[in-house]
Amino acid sequence: MPKVRPVATDSLIAARGIVKSFQIADRTLEVLHGVDLDVKRGELVALMGASGAGKSTLIQVMGLLDRPTSGKVLLDGSDAWELPLAERAALRNRAIGFVFQFYHLLPELNAVENVLLPAMIGNSWSGYKQRAKEFKDRARGMLVKFGLEQRLDHRPAQLSGGERQRVAIARALFLDPKMIIADEPTGNLDSATGERVLELLLTEQHERGVSLLLVTHDERLAAHCQRIVRMEDGRVV
Ligand SMILES: Nc1ncnc2c1ncn2[C@@H]1O[C@H](COP(=O)(O)OP(=O)(O)O)[C@@H](O)[C@H]1O
Ligand SMILES: [Mg+2]
Repeated sequence: MPKVRPVATDSLIAARGIVKSFQIADRTLEVLHGVDLDVKRGELVALMGASGAGKSTLIQVMGLLDRPTSGKVLLDGSDAWELPLAERAALRNRAIGFVFQFYHLLPELNAVENVLLPAMIGNSWSGYKQRAKEFKDRARGMLVKFGLEQRLDHRPAQLSGGERQRVAIARALFLDPKMIIADEPTGNLDSATGERVLELLLTEQHERGVSLLLVTHDERLAAHCQRIVRMEDGRVV
C-alpha cells in the first residue's frame, strides 16, 4: 500500500490519491494520476498549469461535483465521497461556493433569484418561505454592495459578462461557505473587467476569511496568492 500523507489539523479540504479516468468508447483515459492537495482554512491557493493538465477535473472532484475513480476527499472532517448522496449534496451546498468561467447562472431567473438558489436548495420549501424576506434582503444587499443595484431584476441575458460574474460570486458566497472554488473566473472577461471582478472576489475572500482555490493562468495574480500549486499532465508538480 502506498503511504497516505497525513492531514494537518488546519486543513479545510484534503484530496488524497485522486485518480480520475474517463471511459471513451473502449478506451480508458486516466487524466489524474494520484493527486494530493490540501487547502487550509482561510488560505488562498492558486492552481496553475497548461490547458488539459487536469485542473478543472481535480477541482470538480474536490468540489464534490464529480466522483473520483479512486482516492479520498476529506472536507471539514467528512470523508465526502463516502457520504450518502443527499448528505454529500447538503455538505457541498453549505460548505463550498463555485465560480465558473462561464458563470452558470440560470437563464430564467433574475439576479436576485440566482443568488437565492443555494438557500432554496438548502432548505425545505416551507423553511425557505418562512425566511424568504430575510434571504431576499440579504441577496439584494450583496448585489447592491457589488455595484448591481440597477440590475437586481435583470436576467443573465440582460447583464454584461462582468455583471454576470458578480452575480455568480454573490451566489457562491450566499450561504457563507468555508471555501470558494473558482475555475478561471476571469477567463471570459476583458482584462479591465476581469481585474475588477478579481478585486471583488479577493476582497470578499479576505474579509470573510474563506478559503479560495483559484484556477488561473495569470502569473501576476498567482504571485499574490499564499501558495501556487502547479499541475502537469494530471499530476501536481
Ligand atoms: N468528461 C470527460 N471525458 C473525457 N475526457 C475528459 C473529460 N473531462 C476532461 N477530460 C480530459 O481530461 C484532461 C484534463 O482536462 P481538464 O481537467 O479540463 O484540464 P484543464 O482544466 O487543466 O484545462 C483533458 O485531456 C481533457 O480532454
Ligand atoms: Mg479547465
